[in-house]
Amino acid sequence: MVVEFADSAKLAVEVNRRRNFAIISHPDAGKTTLTEKLLLYGGAIHEAGSVRARRDQRQATSDWMELEKQRGISITSTVLQFEYRDCQINLLDTPGHQDFSEDTYRTLAAADNAVMLIDAAKGLEPQTRKLFEVCRLRKLPIFTFANKLDRPSQEPLNLLDEIEKELKLATYPVNWPIGTGDRFKGVFDRRTRKVHLFQRSRHGSKMASETTLDLDAPELLELVEPDVYQTFRDELELIEEVGSELDLEAVLSGELTPVFFGSAMTNFGVQLFLDAFLDYAAKPGPRTARTGSVDPTHEHFSGFVFKLQANMDPKHRDRVAFVRVCSGKFEKDMVVTHARSGKSLRLARPQKLFAQDRESVEEAYAGDVIGLNNPGAFSIGDTIYIGPKIEYEGIPCFSPELFAYLRNPNPSKFKQFQKGISELREEGAVQIMYSTDEAKRDPILAAVGQLQFEVVQFRLQSEYGVESRVELLPYSVARWVTAGWDELAKVGRLFNAMTVKDMWDRPVLLFKNEWNCQQVEGDHPSLQLQSIAPLT
Ligand code: G4P
Repeated sequence: MVVEFADSAKLAVEVNRRRNFAIISHPDAGKTTLTEKLLLYGGAIHEAGSVRARRDQRQATSDWMELEKQRGISITSTVLQFEYRDCQINLLDTPGHQDFSEDTYRTLAAADNAVMLIDAAKGLEPQTRKLFEVCRLRKLPIFTFANKLDRPSQEPLNLLDEIEKELKLATYPVNWPIGTGDRFKGVFDRRTRKVHLFQRSRHGSKMASETTLDLDAPELLELVEPDVYQTFRDELELIEEVGSELDLEAVLSGELTPVFFGSAMTNFGVQLFLDAFLDYAAKPGPRTARTGSVDPTHEHFSGFVFKLQANMDPKHRDRVAFVRVCSGKFEKDMVVTHARSGKSLRLARPQKLFAQDRESVEEAYAGDVIGLNNPGAFSIGDTIYIGPKIEYEGIPCFSPELFAYLRNPNPSKFKQFQKGISELREEGAVQIMYSTDEAKRDPILAAVGQLQFEVVQFRLQSEYGVESRVELLPYSVARWVTAGWDELAKVGRLFNAMTVKDMWDRPVLLFKNEWNCQQVEGDHPSLQLQSIAPLT
């Protein structure tokens, strides 16, 4: 009994010290730079530049996937883990740039918090908005970091306004900038009511040294130009009128975002952000499963697969299943049950992932991510567990934006072609749909990023030995008709839309643009169109 109590107390301690998050941003907002600086302050690296260097080095040396080399980009998503202030922080990487794909959305299913990184000059950008919508569906707490304050940027008040109006998300500035661009002097931290003045360090490769002053310290007037100081005080007065308390409950339910200003490149505000984030961020919490809610301190291990990665290692043409641990303690060599098949599996080679390195993991707790060598057993959304049955709700299919017929020019390879398509779909590399016209039997690839098409073609060729041709379709919006086929038949022929079916024979409408989609939505509300597929 004593042993059991000690175990459950340790479990609670481990869960409480975990913080897990993903960064949502548009390319070039500074995700790589901020990641690097968080690692620098978190003590995981000692000199910034190494993440980028590793990335570049990987591009130079990796031969595991020709495509990666050809395109000069990284397809591998990783989980970065570091300890800071007694907390174990898990940063889930969300592939961006050209490697934006459904994996980016799925990673958010495994995250407990999101950091919304915005370029303070550009404000909200398309990829950020899309990812934000996924966070909103999950009611994830969102922490905003307005970056690049060292460059001319929008008025901070305008940025808040944009977030509030466009995302319908309340804001609470945790710090406030003193000047922007060339005259950016630092930030005022509303938590401690101290002004932090920063010195520029070259590209911020080492931690920045900083001076901390009281708000009313006379030196401040000497160090900051009078007009910059005055604007800062006026703005501060304005934001403090609204109220000085941060409503943490609203943060945790995703209704209010704490906002931080800074400059990742020069390290301004990064540590303040990290410290506040650790205090406010959601710890791993209970998760909804089909079998009921599961507490992270539940005595038995459980987790779900949110991503499958093929061919990470050139020496073994393997697949890695990334599992988000949701409850209990994970141990090496554990025998778990695979909920979908009911089969037992021994998890013999678990891996923790830091960039491209693989390190064996001995134990893991809720909030952690482990990489399992996948002998083909796993699909996206699968649950593994110990003890009484647990089955998590799965991960929905997100609205694809690119559609193309995939042609097989070589009929003698029909079987391999079908096998490849079906396996790649199961793995979650791409969504597959079919025309309702029996004469058009070629599969329609449906993706959120262009790279997904290239990956499918590349892998069909290299793993299944089949050539393929992609023929783009002129659609960019998909909506599932949740009212079903009968309702769709009732509304009759729809112009400007193509009717297709997904892998579960459910009706989906493809539109050329949002405008056409909104028109059909407005004219036929009975169709109950949805941008995210209902779970199967
Ligand atoms: P990403 O991963 O979101 O795509 O962005 P990344 O960190 O690669 O940053 C994109 C560019 O923005 C980089 O410049 C980077 O140095 C710059 N940047 C990031 N944070 C800041 C900041 O706080 N202030 C300023 N002024 N610039 C910032 P680059 O020219 O593309 O690369 P590099 O020459 O710096 O390596």
